[in-house]
Amino acid sequence: MYLCFLKENRLNSSLSSLFTQLGLPGSLVKNLTAAGMTEPKPIQKQAIPSMLAGRDILGIAQTGSGKTLAFTLPILARIIAAGSKRKPKVARALILVPTRELAVQIDESVRLMARNMYLSVALVLGGVSRFTQIRHMASGVDILIATPGRLMDHVREKNISLSETCFFVLDEADRMLDMGFIRDVQQIARLIAPERQTALFSATMPKEISHLAESLLNRPLMLEMAPQGTTAVGIVQKLYCVPLRDKKKVLAGLLALPDFRSVIVFTRTKHGADAVTRYLEKAGYPVGVIHGNKTQNARQRALKGFRNGNLQVLVATDIAARGIDVPGISHVINYELPDEAESYVHRIGRTGRNGASGDAITLYDKSFEETRLRAVEKVIRKRLELQVMPNLPEIVFSTKAVEQNSEKSNPLKPLQYPKINSLSSKDPRKRPARRLDQGKLSRIRNVGKNGRKISRFAKAG
Ligand SMILES: Nc1ncnc2c1ncn2[C@@H]1O[C@H](COP(=O)(O)OP(=O)(O)OP(=O)(O)O)[C@@H](O)[C@H]1O
Ligand SMILES: [Mg+2]
Repeated sequence: MYLCFLKENRLNSSLSSLFTQLGLPGSLVKNLTAAGMTEPKPIQKQAIPSMLAGRDILGIAQTGSGKTLAFTLPILARIIAAGSKRKPKVARALILVPTRELAVQIDESVRLMARNMYLSVALVLGGVSRFTQIRHMASGVDILIATPGRLMDHVREKNISLSETCFFVLDEADRMLDMGFIRDVQQIARLIAPERQTALFSATMPKEISHLAESLLNRPLMLEMAPQGTTAVGIVQKLYCVPLRDKKKVLAGLLALPDFRSVIVFTRTKHGADAVTRYLEKAGYPVGVIHGNKTQNARQRALKGFRNGNLQVLVATDIAARGIDVPGISHVINYELPDEAESYVHRIGRTGRNGASGDAITLYDKSFEETRLRAVEKVIRKRLELQVMPNLPEIVFSTKAVEQNSEKSNPLKPLQYPKINSLSSKDPRKRPARRLDQGKLSRIRNVGKNGRKISRFAKAG
């Protein structure tokens, strides 16, 4: 027993020392160990010592490879080492991100690592009350996590100053430097003292943006774990040819397959996201939606429901393509290919994270998406071959739902897709209909609005 204890203790200290060896203080290593993290990821091994030494960094590493801790840990370590130097309305470190959801997520991660350290962490984002944010910043902030628009409002109103900020991070840097954000980001960068340490991280960095990135950095160290645009290794990419008019039916059919447990569906537009969501709701799926026209509360509620497993499906625009870390997403479905090819890498990167595996399926209509497909293939440096669609279960709507269905075509009509000759035992058509859907139906029935009963079943082959 005593020997066992000794052995375990030795093992623990040798594992946690992997982070200690990178130069991180014991307090951080303790919090890492408590969060179950004992071994640094490759990008962390490279970035942490260099950032601790004060270098500017341009870090390119695949989705889900641990970039967040690669920049938050060294900043925390340097702030801890510098001691308590907070000044009212002054931010010591700034992490700038493109979306509110990502800001919330990074805030949670930083707080987890900064536990029991009396550091002040503040979150600034649009769509929520500014007064709480002002209050949190009043006595000074060690780490400020922000989206650009709301941060600029606070700077203009003199609620926070960046003149003494020593650490500046752009996560999803290529997105932060593209047309949508560049003016705000350049303005913010000008407010921060030039002696600052700057770090830029992303899984993609198109050539046109990289010169802008370099203009923000001072003799940077380039850390490229894989060439930019490389997709994560655990993701199996599939391309199915589906005419636009059939996409909703095919999507509903795919979602009825047993291994589609936790699925994020990306559409190109907010309107498209709403239309797909309505269709899936009518088909009886537990589904949430995230896009820019939703209130911040509704966005957070949908993400929370998806994260905790109450929602099988999250329909989203590219607002959820970058950075969002929900462990256990089994499938990403591109209902349409994105306008910006890099988005494909980020969208599919919501699965296959942190060494896990996952499927990324693209529903492709050759008649209008060919240019987009070629652009994606150029970014990922791979051809996406068309695959045979598996036989899909028939989706049956309740009569009322069918009446309300905006689709012109009859949703009761069985789907006509190439048949697979030999059906595996996993194929739902091999199972009795009741067995396949018994569990799902009980969940799904709760979803119908106004007491409307919605049923869905897979027909036995
Ligand atoms: N050293 C580690 N040990 C175990 N898990 C880790 C480690 N580092 C990070 N993770 C976990 O890996 C997951 C992915 O990390 P993270 O979100 O930082 O990826 P990322 O590289 O920023 O991805 P993206 O490009 O999609 O933003 C998270 O759940 C995180 O907690
Ligand atoms: Mg990230």
